Amino acid sequence: VRTAVLISGRGSNMAALIAAAKAPDFPAEIALVVSNKADAGGLALAAAAGVATKVVESRPFGKDRAAFEAALHAELEAAGVELVCLAGFMRVLTPWLVARWSGRMLNIHPALLPAFPGLDTHERALDAGVKIHGCTVHLVVPEVDAGPILAQAAVPVLPDDTSDTLSARVLAQEHVIYPAALARLARGLKPACAGPAQALVVPA
Ligand code: GRF
Repeated sequence: VRTAVLISGRGSNMAALIAAAKAPDFPAEIALVVSNKADAGGLALAAAAGVATKVVESRPFGKDRAAFEAALHAELEAAGVELVCLAGFMRVLTPWLVARWSGRMLNIHPALLPAFPGLDTHERALDAGVKIHGCTVHLVVPEVDAGPILAQAAVPVLPDDTSDTLSARVLAQEHVIYPAALARLARGLKPACAGPAQALVVPA
């Protein structure tokens, strides 16, 4: 299944998807990486991995989200992709684009949704004092960080955690569940939990 990954930055989830998709039995192929920022670090990673890249800069479109999304959608169509993975893509999409990719567009969010939608999830998790945090892969719907959940992984929050240490622990799990969720969707399978095999018990 031809798949595009949309990025805005460093692209570590994109790299994890590309690496997983190189396995011969992986049911999706990363055919295109699109960035809305020309200086996204992930573009070089994708090119080095032999994946086609495009830049559709959002900045020149200003507030004209419809025109930006039309340009983005045209690139996806031209590449013949059937699935789209948002991976650190820092643009809120309009209902128009979301509808065009309904059921075929995934996102990864660095929190256990529906907890902590939005930005700064690790800081907010630490501030809230939660003992378990994690990440979620979900289908994209018009509401931000909502939509049917395809996979989640949980990690403990440790007493000395900073947002950096916590985000690194979560990110390692993002790189596991995103390829797993993409594979299941590409195979037409139902969602599965990709969390730890044992109950995660974190003393208060
Ligand atoms: C990840 O934490 C992802 O969950 C969030 O943005 C970050 C992107 O990181 N949506 P990367 O570009 O994949 O390294």
